[in-house]
Amino acid sequence: MPSADLTLDPHFTVGAVNRRLFGSFVEHLGRCVYDGIYEPGHPSADPEGFRTDVMELVRELGVSAIRYPGGNFVSGFRWEDSVGPREERPSRLDLAWHSTESNEVGLDEFAGWLEKVGSELMYAVNLGTRGVLEAVDVLEYANIRSGTTLSDARIKNGRVDPHRIRMWCLGNEMDGPWQLGHRNAEDYGKLASQTAKAMRQLDGDLELVVCGSSNASMPTFGSWEHTVLRHTYDDVDYISCHAYYEERDGDAGSFLAVATNMDHFIESVVATADTVRAELGRSKRINISFDEWNVWYNTRFHAEEQITDIERWPTAPRLLEDSYSVIDAVVVGNLLISLLKHADRVTSASLAQLVNVIAPIMTEPGGPAWRQTTFFPFAITSRLAVGDALEVRLTGDTYTTALYGEVPLVDAVATHDPATGRSAVFLVNRSLTEATTVTVDVARLGAVAVLETHTLTDDDIYAANTLADRERVGVGPNESAAVADGHLTVSLPPVSWTAVSLG
Ligand code: AHR
Repeated sequence: MPSADLTLDPHFTVGAVNRRLFGSFVEHLGRCVYDGIYEPGHPSADPEGFRTDVMELVRELGVSAIRYPGGNFVSGFRWEDSVGPREERPSRLDLAWHSTESNEVGLDEFAGWLEKVGSELMYAVNLGTRGVLEAVDVLEYANIRSGTTLSDARIKNGRVDPHRIRMWCLGNEMDGPWQLGHRNAEDYGKLASQTAKAMRQLDGDLELVVCGSSNASMPTFGSWEHTVLRHTYDDVDYISCHAYYEERDGDAGSFLAVATNMDHFIESVVATADTVRAELGRSKRINISFDEWNVWYNTRFHAEEQITDIERWPTAPRLLEDSYSVIDAVVVGNLLISLLKHADRVTSASLAQLVNVIAPIMTEPGGPAWRQTTFFPFAITSRLAVGDALEVRLTGDTYTTALYGEVPLVDAVATHDPATGRSAVFLVNRSLTEATTVTVDVARLGAVAVLETHTLTDDDIYAANTLADRERVGVGPNESAAVADGHLTVSLPPVSWTAVSLG
């Protein structure tokens, strides 16, 4: 039987786990907002029209900051359309997703929904087809207490207290040719710098995210980050990373190893940011906001594919509604391990997206809401990964993949909370056929016992939760986990994700 060994020491930390690592993303895309979080006619809807069954699942998921309102959508969006009396709000054609946007839900409603679910707003401004002034305007509307035309308009709209939005994204995927108003790195870097400087004049307490590459395969990846940061280093706090993965051509072995690709992606962007830091002689570090990540099978969607029928601009169409299986959930659990392993520099991340659109939560209009397979590793990691991420020294068996060469069979990370003395270990077994035994040296954690265990696995690695069978896949306890003589041993079934809490 394959095996792996790892050693934990609470003194060797990567960095504190920032709660913002467990963020998500709500875009005005498909049924994420309409018929997703918002459905006034639904039996569970609250007086504001938000589905309370969805709210309960969002709370259970343990989502911290939520990026909004896009995504590609934001590059054609006029923020002022989305505030004020609903009956006066314009209906617009959304060029990014070839849909009709009613603006029924906007900034104030979404901020109110976030208060109900206990998450923080991370707001993206349109730097595709708009510029400095509109970014400053929405900031004035959202964050200035009163006494200006826009802050007083917010008060008149029923929001007396400012929204106090701290995290702002300076556009979205500005290197992508699919993006309305995309630019080269020089032009975007200058615009982002001007916008950041202007925004900071209004509010000195902002955290700003500049756009990195849309993915690590973009032709300008690396040089984009370098040029953009040369222009914006003093103005921003984060550079964004986006990554979507899928199983291609039945190559499950490579798919199970995509977290190694995320590891390299993060390390490469960190290296570029630190190169610019050295070139400019600065002490401040730029961290990563990994503000779009997930498994996504429908990545080839482009709005042009639907434009053949010019009459058809649907409202809340069923777009990008991927159904996730057991293997997808194991990969999502592994991507979370990768983020935690880089907790010193990845201090914000957003699972894209939250409801219906490549999402852990699905809904049926007038019907139920349910958890996709990917819900479980996210919710459990968000709840148990508290305190510091620990350096993990791992040795063990490997296997060879077509895309990433030789990779470890087991990947793992651990956290330790000095306040409570509790620790947690998160593990995946990437073997398609064999269980793997893992031995963890926990002696330096003191006298610990297993508090809880969760394993996600199934004989059918393509099993999924669907409307017809909403609880087909879940997580169960891992009875093999035990601590003796300062060592935790646990057996990981093939294609599985496991969390063990120790205290
Ligand atoms: O999350 C779906 C889309 O993927 C987003 O709108 C865009 O930013 C990315 O390309």
